[in-house]
Amino acid sequence: MCGIVGFIGSNEATPIILDGLRRLEYRGYDSAGIATLNHGKVEIRRAAGKLVNLEMMLQERPLGGSCGIGHTRWATHGRPSEINAHPHCAGGIVVVHNGIIENYRFLKGMLTGKGHHFRSETDTEVIAHLIEHHFKETGSFEAAVRLALSELRGAYAVVVLCEKEPGHLIAAKSGSPLVVGHRGGEFYVASDIPAMLSRTREMIFLDDGEFVLFGNRDMKVSMLDGRKVRKESKTITWNPLLAEKGGYRHFMLKEIHEQPRAIADTLAGRIQEKGEVQLEELHLTDVELRRIEKLFIVACGTSWHAALIGKFFIEKLARVPVDVDIASEFRYRDPIVTGNTLTLLISQSGETADTLAALREAKGKKGKTVAVCNVVESSIARESDGVIYTHAGPEIGVASTKAFTTQIVALYMFAIRLGLARGTISSGQCRGMIHDLQALPEKVEKTLMQDGAIEEAARAYMGAKDFLFLGRGNQYPIALEGALKLKEISYIHAEGYPAGEMKHGPIALIDEQMPVVILAPRNETFEKVASNMEEVRARGGRVIAVTDHAGEELTGKADLILNLPAVPDDLMPVITAVPMQLLAYHVAALLGKDVDQPRNLAKSVTVE
Ligand code: G6P
Repeated sequence: MCGIVGFIGSNEATPIILDGLRRLEYRGYDSAGIATLNHGKVEIRRAAGKLVNLEMMLQERPLGGSCGIGHTRWATHGRPSEINAHPHCAGGIVVVHNGIIENYRFLKGMLTGKGHHFRSETDTEVIAHLIEHHFKETGSFEAAVRLALSELRGAYAVVVLCEKEPGHLIAAKSGSPLVVGHRGGEFYVASDIPAMLSRTREMIFLDDGEFVLFGNRDMKVSMLDGRKVRKESKTITWNPLLAEKGGYRHFMLKEIHEQPRAIADTLAGRIQEKGEVQLEELHLTDVELRRIEKLFIVACGTSWHAALIGKFFIEKLARVPVDVDIASEFRYRDPIVTGNTLTLLISQSGETADTLAALREAKGKKGKTVAVCNVVESSIARESDGVIYTHAGPEIGVASTKAFTTQIVALYMFAIRLGLARGTISSGQCRGMIHDLQALPEKVEKTLMQDGAIEEAARAYMGAKDFLFLGRGNQYPIALEGALKLKEISYIHAEGYPAGEMKHGPIALIDEQMPVVILAPRNETFEKVASNMEEVRARGGRVIAVTDHAGEELTGKADLILNLPAVPDDLMPVITAVPMQLLAYHVAALLGKDVDQPRNLAKSVTVE
């Protein structure tokens, strides 16, 4: 989704802003722009397409000045084009914006009536004109922005410049993320941490309704209505190198290979050999955990697949009924949430608009909420009653990988913690599970050694038009994830299905052209999955079997067998997820697709 970068200080703004925008590229965008204030004049450069187009334009017509704003746009209102790209300007007021202004048509009509002339199809341009309108009335930049923002309905993070008040920059947010970075009297403002991480680690996380006035070497935070707010600065400990490719061809491949470390980091300090799980920020006592009568797990995309696996863990280990919901459905279906309901919200970014709305829905009904998030201090993490952070480090590739496997691990720890509190598992059982968790990073490392074999498989099957992924039980979500990964980055149509449902439809699709990935680890349903494999083969389908030590039994039943390390069945989804990621990655890379920034997708979907 859109990226915002703003800067005010004594250095040249353009290279700083461009660098920040480049680091936000992973969020997905279709056009970009920059505006700076130089000798009392605002100048803007915008270009459709990738940042390189904007850079070429800046080489021909550079922008000077030590105060500026930049934006990468992911189209919502109006097609991707230079005219719709941000920044938008009206009478010397220049705005970049993330989010959606729901009452923009009304405002546009009102402003057109007052003689304002609009150039773009965007909702954002309305903000610039509205501020200009109030600036003419009040003569104060700050008052004009406050008045304009208070008239907006919907979600926004904005950064605003004013030609007539050079030494100032204003930022504000309501519903879309915005973070302030500072160092030595210089200020950065951005929609995400990586944009500023190479310049500062000192960050202030803004909350909804907050308004920042940046001046010459100082900044003041207040509420939109003027009430003062005290904010604390936090030091971000992420290593900026983690947000770089480190020798890999793509971020996605690097992130797939980082999984052993990411899992180890997620476990670190939380599991004890003696049979305990400590989740410090859960903020739920044993008494509260015992009172839970019902759980919802709510998420979008890949995080929803982790949620489906979480249901298996929680129902098995803690014997509490769990419903898994897609956030955009949950928020509108009037779910039955009571004081004894716990809703887990899973989100890598912690900023997904539907998941945030689902959280608010659950809180509004007085239910308890816990977030499983990767981005520290993200909106979902902050608004939930408790949080379990996955310590996967920054995930840059749009297609989620290490965030997914660490989410599964976090959910497993939570299920153990809940089971212990409720007495449905003993500390002896817990010790065994902790032992299994400790061994997991090494097993994932071994799984990654199959990379070469999977690349070969990708070469053999990359010409297919459709793929089918089948799995049962806790492997069904992995089938869904395998299909999603392939769709997202290679644009090949793929479907994930419970293997037992194959006969109720997808079997009609099977012919010699159709590769079928079958997840078949040795577990309770292994024999049944092996039968499904025969059924596919009998219809000429090409079978890629993903299995563990049962591999030998499948000899002759599949065109290709991927033999993975065995782990206890509960944790097997972490292992089988890896070849799904690698298969999708290699197919997409071999087809020459833009793996890290697939078309039309965004890393963080901050609009509904
Ligand atoms: C987008 C991303 C997916 C991600 C989903 C949910 O669609 O492209 O990779 O799974 O959002 O994101 P979240 O940050 O809430 O996990």
